Amino acid sequence: MCGIVGYIGYRNTLPVLLQGLERLEYRGYDSAGVACLENGKKSLFVAKEKGKLAQLTSALNGKTVSSTIGIAHTRWATHGAPSRANAHPHTDTKNRIAVVHNGIIENFAEVKEFLKTRGHRFKSETDTEVIPHLVEELNHGDLEEAFRKAIQRLNGYFAIVMISVDEPEKLFAFKRSNPLVLGVGKGENFAASDVTALLPYTRRVIYLQDNELAVLTKDHIHISTLLHQKSIRRQPTEIKWTLDEAKKGGFPHYMLKEIFEQPHVARQTLEKRIKQGKIYFDTFHQAVNKRLAKVKKVFIVSCGTAHHAGLIGRYMLEEYTRIPTEVQVSSEFRYTDPIVTRDDLVVLISQSGETADTIAAFREAKENGAMTLAIVNVVGSTIAREADFVLYTHAGPEIGVASTKAYIAQLLTLMLFAFHLGVIKKRISQTTLSDLLKELQKIPSAITEILKNEKQLDVAVKALYQKKNFLFIGRGYNFPTALEGALKLKEISYAHAHGYAGGEMKHGPIALIDHTQPVICIASESKTYGKMLSNIQEIKARDAIVLTIASKGDEQVKKLSNWIFYIPRVLEIFSTILSVVPLQLFAYKIAVRNQRDVDQPRNLAKSVTVE
Ligand code: M6R
Repeated sequence: MCGIVGYIGYRNTLPVLLQGLERLEYRGYDSAGVACLENGKKSLFVAKEKGKLAQLTSALNGKTVSSTIGIAHTRWATHGAPSRANAHPHTDTKNRIAVVHNGIIENFAEVKEFLKTRGHRFKSETDTEVIPHLVEELNHGDLEEAFRKAIQRLNGYFAIVMISVDEPEKLFAFKRSNPLVLGVGKGENFAASDVTALLPYTRRVIYLQDNELAVLTKDHIHISTLLHQKSIRRQPTEIKWTLDEAKKGGFPHYMLKEIFEQPHVARQTLEKRIKQGKIYFDTFHQAVNKRLAKVKKVFIVSCGTAHHAGLIGRYMLEEYTRIPTEVQVSSEFRYTDPIVTRDDLVVLISQSGETADTIAAFREAKENGAMTLAIVNVVGSTIAREADFVLYTHAGPEIGVASTKAYIAQLLTLMLFAFHLGVIKKRISQTTLSDLLKELQKIPSAITEILKNEKQLDVAVKALYQKKNFLFIGRGYNFPTALEGALKLKEISYAHAHGYAGGEMKHGPIALIDHTQPVICIASESKTYGKMLSNIQEIKARDAIVLTIASKGDEQVKKLSNWIFYIPRVLEIFSTILSVVPLQLFAYKIAVRNQRDVDQPRNLAKSVTVE
């Protein structure tokens, strides 16, 4: 959570920082702030505001500050409510040191008490504010040493960037667990929570590793380990994402742009992963496949939308590999005292690769000696780096808080992984595999077809957008799709929505049904189609308002529905990728009609880096 930007170079700093924050606002947006060192003056310029970045920009009102070094922050509150006082950057007593921070300092209360006894006065309720004060306390003429010593006194997980009037030609950065990437320019250097903030200036980046401290001047970056001060030489990585990929591309919202990118994402995933009729995982060599062949049990651990992908992943793995598979939300995994052994595979699914709950679950799995596989979108993220093996989903940057294209890519990757493991376990023949892969190739154009028909949802949306309660039902492979449809709707429209397995309705939820209750039913062709039809009949008999997602040409279910949205006919396993698309569009359209902030819904952040 929280976005950080740091700059040192020759440009006018303020616009660089504000542009960087704009790209990182998805990480948190309850307050924003900047701090710059003013050229020729031994003073800090600090500006911060509660609310979104726009509040800060309008408070600055085009102000110019003569400065070539600065830091900036967009916040998602953890310690202390959203307010101007709690907004970053935070400074020391004499206003000579400014710090931005992403993460949590677990022992901040104790450090704060100590600093108070030393005469430090605090202006905020944040954990962050102890950092500049501690550096001030420990500074005896060498700022880098004071920064290093201060960090050694702090417990927790964080990324920090710091500037000071005492050494105005240096930007200090540190990373432990939370992401921090350095941008390498010519006569300028950068630090940011992710690469999107750097793309207008440079494509050459260095991913700072855990417990590394960096000192940036305009011409040089020096990285060293925190404890032993061992210098690290690391070549920059070239970022291939286009700038356009990180922008809205003409759509009113990132979410809609990302929904419409799904055919491309699916095509790209298949092109990367299927070569000459075979599944190709670049990171899997012979030894990996040997280890996979011995796997006795699979655990899938993830949160939110990634958890729903995991639930579908279980159906896939059990059908095609017959390996028992357990799915858990990351935040519960550790606390169930999971029986994980060296023979097990733990699959971690995460768009950001930075979700704190999933990182914690990963560490639990690692301690138990399990083999870990990360299915992650953000290259170089914590989970991707630390897992034994990684399969990147290559969905490109996902900016909308509501996950859409990353989900499609997760499903495709899980599917291919299940087939791959099925072959290794000799549960699938080469012929079956090539039939499946042939069918799979139809998916990108099937998504395009659905997107072309998106307007067909409008009548239902117009009739339902003011409703406050929705039910979503599905069965088998599409039961998790119902959960995902409900999550999408509630997170961006703020209406209550609940997903159920169709067969569960009669065990309680059917009591909710009357003529005012909308129920969204996923009833595409499947093993459980007949049963699903009965479930729809049961709710229709009680006058529910029914919107059905069905396979093209299904006249039977049409008669039971107020509205129907058809998806192309595909195998049940592949229908999971198609049936979610109208549900994403439905949620989007309802939210827009209710004038919700689709890309940055209240109380949410794109990447949840606190447990
Ligand atoms: O980055 P991750 O995939 O680990 O994030 C997991 C969830 O926080 C995320 O899917 C969240 O539920 C989304 N807002 C759903 O749209």
